[in-house]
Amino acid sequence: MKNLYLDYNSHTPCDTSVIIAMHDVWSQPGNPHSGSHSFGWAKQQLVSDSLATFTDIYDCFEEELLFTSGATEANNLAIYSGIPIAKKINPKADTILTSHLEHKSVLNPLEIAADKYGLKLLYVDITSEGIIDLKDMQTKLEQNNVLWVSCTMTNGVIGTNQPIYQVVELCQRYNAMLHVDASQAGYLDIACHDLQVDFLTLSAHKIYGPSGIGLLYSKHLQNPEFMPIISGGGQQDGLRAGTLPVPLIVGFAQAAKILDDTKETEASGLRALRDRLLNGLNQALPITVFGDLDDRHPGNLYLAIENIDSMQLLNNLQPHIAFSLGSACDGLSREYSPIMKAMGIPKNIAECAFRICIGRMTTNEEVDLAIKLITDGVNKICR
Ligand SMILES: Cc1ncc(COP(=O)(O)O)c(C=O)c1O
Repeated sequence: MKNLYLDYNSHTPCDTSVIIAMHDVWSQPGNPHSGSHSFGWAKQQLVSDSLATFTDIYDCFEEELLFTSGATEANNLAIYSGIPIAKKINPKADTILTSHLEHKSVLNPLEIAADKYGLKLLYVDITSEGIIDLKDMQTKLEQNNVLWVSCTMTNGVIGTNQPIYQVVELCQRYNAMLHVDASQAGYLDIACHDLQVDFLTLSAHKIYGPSGIGLLYSKHLQNPEFMPIISGGGQQDGLRAGTLPVPLIVGFAQAAKILDDTKETEASGLRALRDRLLNGLNQALPITVFGDLDDRHPGNLYLAIENIDSMQLLNNLQPHIAFSLGSACDGLSREYSPIMKAMGIPKNIAECAFRICIGRMTTNEEVDLAIKLITDGVNKICR
């Protein structure tokens, strides 16, 4: 039997056209930072062409973009380099605001930065639908002198989109710097200038591009307080040293372009497949779905089957079907999920929760097989 991959929030395989776009570049000699010969110029040209694609899609300027190894590095860089800038602009501010909707690559650096700079770290409430509680955010902004806010655009576990324009508006009103992790938000419009965010994170392997490449957008890259976390040969204007991986950059640009051209039709196709999966599971099993069904990543379902331990179900179904209990970085952790806790979901129900995410390569037949495998798996546990 074919093993089913339903874990597209964790990783999306490269689109065929991305592989084709990268193919010839791997074997081309030349370092894009070699400015003295034609091999270097050819690579520089590929980087420039890719940057033109990114600035067009993500509504920003070339000099506001920095290549990183992925979203983890971009989040770290935003926080470690951005907080000193925010401190310079707003020296009296002493509080960081975030929420349990964030990925660990945001939460861990925020804890470290709070400790380093002696800042308070506060978590905004989350509604039972998995959305940031804007009233609580406003209260916390009113009652504290907030320096920095990190808010995801689309959560990577329950898949809910966040009201990012309202968050921007609140941050501007209270003069707080805003960092947005948009790595799971590929199906939304990510327009940096229109959004007026300070920092924004992107990752290629969440949008059918290659692993190992991401982008940090910031309007503060030219600020002298910007503190690089990788230094060396002075590449990328000294802001992030290391030779640029041109094949990955070309692949990332191709992936971004395809998604930009097709995201509306692709999203509606994914929603139809997701509904097929949900209806099939609903007919056979007592299911609870967490989070708003419309305003979320179109392939994502975060659900629980009553009284069925999701870890046991997932283990029993290996190697036939791949889904996950939460973020890939949480692995098989049995910790009471901070998101579920913040949403007010009791621990015994949280232990039944799991994430399925279908994607570009998923078919009707695979969805039907997934329904059968999960239903059979549950029946075996109940027997
Ligand atoms: C919201 C979010 N941010 C950051 C990351 C880390 O991404 P990367 O693998 O590109 O470092 C992930 C990965 O799952 C994610 O879902």
